[in-house]
Amino acid sequence: MSQFEKVKAELLTSPKTWLVTGVAGFIGSNLLETLLKLNQKVIGLDNFATGHQHNLDEVKNIVTEIQWSNFTFHNGDIRNYSDCEAAVKGADYILHQAALGSVPRSIADPIMTNSANITGFLNMLQAAKEQNVKSFTYAASSSTYGDHPALPKLEENIGNPLSPYAVTKYVNELYAAVFAKTYGFKSIGLRYFNVFGQRQDPNGAYAAVIPKWTAAMIQGNDVFINGDGETSRDFCFIENTVQMNILAATAPEESKDAVYNVAVGDRTTLNDLYSAIKTALSENEVAVKGALIYRDFRAGDVRHSQADVSKAEKALGYQPEFRILEGISKAMPWYKSFIS
Ligand SMILES: NC(=O)c1ccc[n+]([C@@H]2O[C@H](COP(=O)([O-])OP(=O)(O)OC[C@H]3O[C@@H](n4cnc5c(N)ncnc54)[C@H](O)[C@@H]3O)[C@@H](O)[C@H]2O)c1
Repeated sequence: MSQFEKVKAELLTSPKTWLVTGVAGFIGSNLLETLLKLNQKVIGLDNFATGHQHNLDEVKNIVTEIQWSNFTFHNGDIRNYSDCEAAVKGADYILHQAALGSVPRSIADPIMTNSANITGFLNMLQAAKEQNVKSFTYAASSSTYGDHPALPKLEENIGNPLSPYAVTKYVNELYAAVFAKTYGFKSIGLRYFNVFGQRQDPNGAYAAVIPKWTAAMIQGNDVFINGDGETSRDFCFIENTVQMNILAATAPEESKDAVYNVAVGDRTTLNDLYSAIKTALSENEVAVKGALIYRDFRAGDVRHSQADVSKAEKALGYQPEFRILEGISKAMPWYKSFIS
């Protein structure tokens, strides 16, 4: 039995109360769905900055009425300490996902990204410490590797940040480490690498590459590749990310005060990604009509990214279940019904 299976069985027999911040977003709503299906109590906090009521409605439709009754929602802002304090009350475990994602958004408006990602993070960490919650797991980012050239990425080898967003995510790690040292409050940071899957927003200027391209292809629009298409990423299906959050939240003390890569350990170029989405769409009877257009590289993007996930495998029993092609084929029916 895998560690994840073991933890899920324990949670089913002994349910806990979880706080998921950013619960109306992509990753948050997927965490909510899994936790409710495990009969956990979930408190959610979101201000709908980039999240959507329809994500919550979708989870409501998937789980049973009794499971949905275990969910309490706070419409609040992590930049307000009192909202954080109120949401943290009664939580055993915190999965802190709320933040403003996107490198280009942070370049366009560094002050806004800073306030959600640094002030908001500090508020949540302080509120969690004050309430003495059992564990605090937060969304860190592979952008922290910055300009460090080594591949695959090992947690201890980071370079200089390449964007305001990367600075904010690195500052989260610094605060987390200082809280462990200063107050003995230990947390776990999860450095996500390009997570994708159902409920990732395809709309808006700052949409991530997989939902943006998938939507364009379904709608018959052109797809734009920034650069020559040989830029590569370690795309991580959402279910692997959910597994890591649950393993991290329930991890023993000796695995805390640490950061872990969350990915698969693969590397896929944008050219190959385009082909994979096109194939998956044709398997779902969607013919792609738009063109593929190459344009300039985008500021702040790292060229290649690939994780070494052995630290999480050893310390937390992480076993990524889905590689990119499996994830894409699982996500496509959702995109087809959401977009068309
Ligand atoms: N998706 C990825 O590939 C990826 C990669 C690295 C890190 N991350 C991190 O994972 C986390 C979740 O990302 P996601 O992809 O689900 O993005 P998302 O935009 O779908 O979700 C973020 C959620 O946080 C909420 N939020 C933002 N500011 C808030 C505030 N001030 N108060 C309360 N709620 C607020 C948004 O409304 C949204 O629902 C973020 O911290 C992000 O930086 C994501």
